[in-house]
Amino acid sequence: MKIIKVKDYDEMSKKACKLIVDKIKELNDPILGLATGSTPEGLYQQIIGKYKQGEVSFKNVTTFNLDEYVGLDGDHPNSYRYFMNDKLFKHIDISLDQTFVPNGIANDLKAECNDYEQLIQDVGGIDLQVLGLGTNGHIAFNEPGTSFDSRTSVVDLTQETLESNRRFFDSIEEVPTQALSMGIGSVIEAKEIILLVSGESKAKALSLAINGEITEDLPASILQQHDHVTIIADEAALSQVK
Ligand code: F6R
Repeated sequence: MKIIKVKDYDEMSKKACKLIVDKIKELNDPILGLATGSTPEGLYQQIIGKYKQGEVSFKNVTTFNLDEYVGLDGDHPNSYRYFMNDKLFKHIDISLDQTFVPNGIANDLKAECNDYEQLIQDVGGIDLQVLGLGTNGHIAFNEPGTSFDSRTSVVDLTQETLESNRRFFDSIEEVPTQALSMGIGSVIEAKEIILLVSGESKAKALSLAINGEITEDLPASILQQHDHVTIIADEAALSQVK
């Protein structure tokens, strides 16, 4: 694991942007794995800035998002498809049909998960996966206790995650209790992973992910076994790492 310690959220976003832009320039047809939530928002703003300055094009880029809420369609402002269009895709020159987010309103959710997984295999796998970290150590929506071998599937969200994500909804009752999520087994097949972590609320989970036992109770701890992980974390997030 390579750990890049930065001062704050802004610096985290800029460092991550540089790594991603460099990767896009390096590869002919880069496949990016993307996350939603508060953590990568600043990164997406930075990327838009680089695009507008003419430094990078997304014409040959394909993206796969980690997850989507069950029951929300892409027009719902809290769906992850909406988030991605709104925060990134509509501001850059990516073709929307090269952007993939699991369909949370598919008639057959299991088939949707299998197809999603297949699609990733068909394009040759993810070159660079961006991850955020849950306060309970989750990656994507793989909650503590999820098997390290898990594949893309319908998952139940824990109370802690519902409460964390409640800030985006009018009430906790409106937060979907299930999601479609890439599995841990799927995520760690990415050739390279960048984990972004900011803020003290993530400090405990991050310290366990870096120095703790590798255990399914702390999903992010599996990253210790991946050969090409870069953690970009700010001082607050790293405050419990010895
Ligand atoms: C989002 C995702 C989640 C988040 C995590 C942190 O696509 O997969 O694992 O990365 O819940 O969320 P934020 O960034 O909102 O603190």
